[in-house]
Amino acid sequence: MTKRVIEMPELGMGTFRLEGDTAYNSVKMALEVGFRHIDTAQIYGNEEQVGKAIKDSSIPRSEIFLTTKVWNNKLNKTDFIPSVKKSLEKLQVESVDLLLIHWPSPANNQAMSEYLTELLKAKQLGLTKHIGVSNFTIANLNEAMQTLDSREIFTNQIEVHPYLTNTKLRAFCAQHDIHVTAYMPFVVGKVLKDQTIIDIAKKHDASPAQVVLAWENAKGMTTIPSSTKRKNLEDNFNDKAVKLDDEDIARIDGLDCNDRQATPDFAPQWD
Ligand SMILES: NC(=O)c1ccc[n+]([C@@H]2O[C@H](COP(=O)([O-])OP(=O)(O)OC[C@H]3O[C@@H](n4cnc5c(N)ncnc54)[C@H](OP(=O)(O)O)[C@@H]3O)[C@@H](O)[C@H]2O)c1
Repeated sequence: MTKRVIEMPELGMGTFRLEGDTAYNSVKMALEVGFRHIDTAQIYGNEEQVGKAIKDSSIPRSEIFLTTKVWNNKLNKTDFIPSVKKSLEKLQVESVDLLLIHWPSPANNQAMSEYLTELLKAKQLGLTKHIGVSNFTIANLNEAMQTLDSREIFTNQIEVHPYLTNTKLRAFCAQHDIHVTAYMPFVVGKVLKDQTIIDIAKKHDASPAQVVLAWENAKGMTTIPSSTKRKNLEDNFNDKAVKLDDEDIARIDGLDCNDRQATPDFAPQWD
């Protein structure tokens, strides 16, 4: 099987927790700095601000890779497609590039085959170019592949960083050619204070953030750090200067301590 080519910028900007003017200003700055991949979600409550920042940037829509995610209470057949149309309205776009199921339906309230059928319908209606999932475990992916061909699953967006390498799930994704998008790469800032990361950063005359992004990149993942500061956005965007060697990568791999951040009470049984 030929590995599929992923046409998504490998570095995006995340917008979780960014609200109101902060969301607008951060996305506007990110686009000015050079980011062309923005990640939002219905539940973030900032689709309007993200859409306005994109519009005000005057960057052609075709140059920006835009992702949103359908929230848990919209997974039912009645609400799914209308919720996506509402997202597009808020984002001021005709379609997104990627539409994700944010979480597998809590306690299986909605049958996966039903909401994945709606997800596919959203693509067939032209509301999104690609479809995918988020926070799906190996068991969830196995179930998903009974409804969707694995080639339809553009990505599985999951938590991956030096403190949670998620190796088993990533290996399963690789086996099925499902691209991994790593969220919370900086453990919301925590890993940037890690002495090993700081030491490796010094060795490469780089910042801790650039080292973490280079590690995510070396593992073949897309990643979507968030920042509200121009200086940090620039730092993240210029991560390409750092080339980690095998020893650096092994040291970072060794930091794994299963320190998961995103584990709400409705989370699936993690691998
Ligand atoms: N699918 C899901 O369920 C899910 C769950 C969680 C997150 N996500 C996505 O993943 C994105 C990233 O996760 P996250 O926002 O939670 O956390 P994160 O990206 O790991 O960390 C963000 C934090 O890092 C700081 N930071 C960013 N760049 C920095 C730099 N160069 N130097 C120093 N500090 C820096 C930011 O502070 P400043 O603002 O001060 O720069 C912010 O406090 C989210 O925004 C969201 O889009 C998805």
